[in-house]
Amino acid sequence: MKFFVDTANLSQIKEAQDLGVLDGVTTNPSLMAKEGITGSEHILNHYKAICEIVDGDVSAEVISTDFEGMVKEGEALAALHPQIVVKLPMIKDGVKACKYFSDKGIRTNVTLVFSAGQALLAAKAGATYVSPFIGRLDDISTDGLNLIAEIRLIYDNYGFGTEILAASVRHTMHVIDCAKLGADVMTGPLSSIEGLLRHPLTDSGLAKFLEDYKKGN
Ligand code: G3P
Repeated sequence: MKFFVDTANLSQIKEAQDLGVLDGVTTNPSLMAKEGITGSEHILNHYKAICEIVDGDVSAEVISTDFEGMVKEGEALAALHPQIVVKLPMIKDGVKACKYFSDKGIRTNVTLVFSAGQALLAAKAGATYVSPFIGRLDDISTDGLNLIAEIRLIYDNYGFGTEILAASVRHTMHVIDCAKLGADVMTGPLSSIEGLLRHPLTDSGLAKFLEDYKKGN
């Protein structure tokens, strides 16, 4: 399972990279705005800065909603750095753009996916990644994890190579449940990854080992 962090915060990305288990980064216009990154030049430079920190894939989202605009923006994003994956919204022109990029060998991440049907369409269009938003489904009393299970079943039925990127992961249990269901990738806040570390028996066990070591020395 690949671990991505879902942030545009460079210090959090560095921290995740330093942990040694980071496989990539996802961003979106809201995450960029949260860091005060606005204006196309500033945004493009920020993507380059992220690529310099992390070894893996970095999803960069287009803001156009028409095919021509998505192609123009996506090509510029892809040309920025070999690690860039073009992130496209799950709308009609997004599907067309996904097919266009897939035919050209440019990697894509189809985002804002909330149903198995949308995920099927993204795979048919040759998406590299599909991003079902599990947290946002949970927010409206719909089981986000069930969507991961449905997409896994459909992709396995037909051998689709599109990777399931569980997005809108909010906490550590989401990470564990996505791993059980066979999601290929998870993206969430650094805290959702760091939560995997913690267990009170690890802490008390280590304290006891250190205490006993001191007794003998
Ligand atoms: O990866 C998708 C993500 O950025 C959305 O997360 O927490 O805003 O639903 P959230």
